[in-house]
Amino acid sequence: MGVKVVDTALRDGHQSLFATRMTTAEILEVLPDLDEAGYHALEVWGGATFDACLRFLNEDPWERLREIRKACKKTKLQMLFRGQNILGYKHYPDDIVELFVKKSIENGIDIIRVFDALNDLRNMETVIDATKRYGGHCQIAFCYTTSPIHTVEYFVEMAKKIETLGADSICIKDMSGVLLPEDAYRLVSQLKANTALPVELHSHCTAGVAHATYMKAIEAGVDIIDTALSPLSSGTSQPPTESFQYMLRGTQYDPGLNLDRLNAAAEKIKLVRDKYFASGVLNPKALMVNPLILQYQLPGGMLSNLMSQLENQGAIGRYEEVLREVPAVRADLGYPPLVTPLSQMVGTQAVMNVLTGERYKLVPEEIKDYLRGHYGASPGPIDEDFRKSIIGADKVIDYRPADDLKPQFENLKRKYQDLARTDEDVLSIALFENVAVNFLEKKYLPRKEKEIHEINLHIG
Ligand code: CO
Repeated sequence: MGVKVVDTALRDGHQSLFATRMTTAEILEVLPDLDEAGYHALEVWGGATFDACLRFLNEDPWERLREIRKACKKTKLQMLFRGQNILGYKHYPDDIVELFVKKSIENGIDIIRVFDALNDLRNMETVIDATKRYGGHCQIAFCYTTSPIHTVEYFVEMAKKIETLGADSICIKDMSGVLLPEDAYRLVSQLKANTALPVELHSHCTAGVAHATYMKAIEAGVDIIDTALSPLSSGTSQPPTESFQYMLRGTQYDPGLNLDRLNAAAEKIKLVRDKYFASGVLNPKALMVNPLILQYQLPGGMLSNLMSQLENQGAIGRYEEVLREVPAVRADLGYPPLVTPLSQMVGTQAVMNVLTGERYKLVPEEIKDYLRGHYGASPGPIDEDFRKSIIGADKVIDYRPADDLKPQFENLKRKYQDLARTDEDVLSIALFENVAVNFLEKKYLPRKEKEIHEINLHIG
């Protein structure tokens, strides 16, 4: 049996390269070919696609999913799900999370890949249970990162727990692209030796090492690799699908993809990519290799964010200092993986520590909430004196943060009964309230009714 392939072009590909701006029409163009190409699955939904549809494209993300499902008769559809954050940036109550899983599956998703920024499995429990209950394939991902506590043994122990939780497969999610070939070989071998779960590898080409890392992971027995069709591959995206089909063809790992179909789809996506390239939405920097991330162990997006933060403050001369401060802040916080939202939080704290000339003189509220346990458990221990120096005697919770959240769906449904026509509409509002309301008003309310609706809201 060859290695299986999941194509990420229609989710992570355009999310990594041009801010998730691909439209449903552009996606539908290539699906007939991709559906016939022989993939294990297509990653097409979740992550930032939902927000981008509502906020920038004036599109209903649920309709996009149904259209994609209609166009894909043969291939499984996969989505990325941020644990208790669903597709947003905060914790949502369990009733919203559960219904979101149910509706995702009802509207066409087969495989839900769930992860949590801190690898706190408690933040994934509701998603896992709901995915199983509604008949989806539950893939649990862990965020790969390097630190004194993130050893191969640490991830193997986590994988064993993942297996006990009832996962159908496991994914190494290397969002920064820092997994090196030899480490991948060891990690995959150990995961295969210690669990019975199929193992998938997801990495990014940012540091220039992903092709080699994939090859070593394949030699170690990885079951599935994430690649992106060539026009939406490389740089900050995944390695190119077609290249892996060529590299593995005729070997025991041959994925058996239909190159004619891949090439036909690539021809069409090239036009889309060139359009975003010409309009400047695709920045050529996103396609460049950045091995410095291996030195600093920071995601590529974080390096460019820090640079622009410092430029805005007229302090670009302190860049190196800030890069040295980031690992120190991360150590203070118990080594959180640098993935959204922790990457932004740690970066901002590092900038503040350097620019104020005194560490933790200024501390953003998000960091305080993290120290209060509101994001979940930190991977490593946090020094209690350090914690007290930042949040004083504030309560620190040691239970699952969502346990404090009350059910919300029925309230939202009542509040927006004049606007939301389906449960899916209510879920859109639950995740991105103002943005979704804006979108739904444009979708459902002709101008005159819209004015009446606004008046009613004022009276009500
Ligand atoms: Co990714």
